[in-house]
Amino acid sequence: MTQPSPAIATSSIDERKRAAAIAAVAEIRDGMLVGLGTGSTAHFAVEALGQAVARGLDVRAVATSRQTATQAIALGIVLLKPAKVARIDLCIDGVDEIDPEFRAIKGAGGAMLREKIVAGMAARRIAIADDSKAVGHLGTHPVPAEVLPHAQAFVTRKLREIGCKAVLRLDGAGAPVLTDQDNIILDCHMAGPVDWAELAGHMDAIPGLMGHGLFLEEIDALFLGTAQGVERRERAR
Ligand code: A5P
Repeated sequence: MTQPSPAIATSSIDERKRAAAIAAVAEIRDGMLVGLGTGSTAHFAVEALGQAVARGLDVRAVATSRQTATQAIALGIVLLKPAKVARIDLCIDGVDEIDPEFRAIKGAGGAMLREKIVAGMAARRIAIADDSKAVGHLGTHPVPAEVLPHAQAFVTRKLREIGCKAVLRLDGAGAPVLTDQDNIILDCHMAGPVDWAELAGHMDAIPGLMGHGLFLEEIDALFLGTAQGVERRERAR
């Protein structure tokens, strides 16, 4: 971990997110293929990358959601179809919470399946966040699971059997929230202490559960926006 830089002291949550995002985008070099995350913090990273591209940075990118793709295209960032990409250089994405072991819960925005695929492609993965996202222990947020609609009742039962109370995510009008793949989201609430690796393994094994928001190995570095500046933490491997 490096010390925060007082030169970019930040106060509001959005300023902290933006500072973390700008610090991560500063790692992007000419010729790189970059993964673009989803959410309000990733939005700042895409914005910063768009500005860098306008200044002449030569990069290509893959997006983790339609929302991010729309923003990137509007900023003139060249996007590749993820289906045609197997490896990328760097992925930058937000988190909902992250613990000292770089284990995170993601998916409040519902993009965790594509986010995990893109993280899996990347040689380096930087999580960007304001300091409210850094927690001592995971579990403040439910763990979201993307589920094939056909499998809703079955997956709900299987989740109950492993100790999760699965709640269907609804929009403001009371309709199920659908992912970019037209799947539903079950937010999994846990009671009591959780073995996160065991939970992830169990969730990975449920047919019809397409992906979940536990990112236990997919983060290499955390850039955290604080009131004193950006803290850069590297995962020890
Ligand atoms: C999107 O599905 C999520 O994984 C986001 O990356 C995560 O929720 C962080 O979003 P914010 O930056 O908006 O908090």
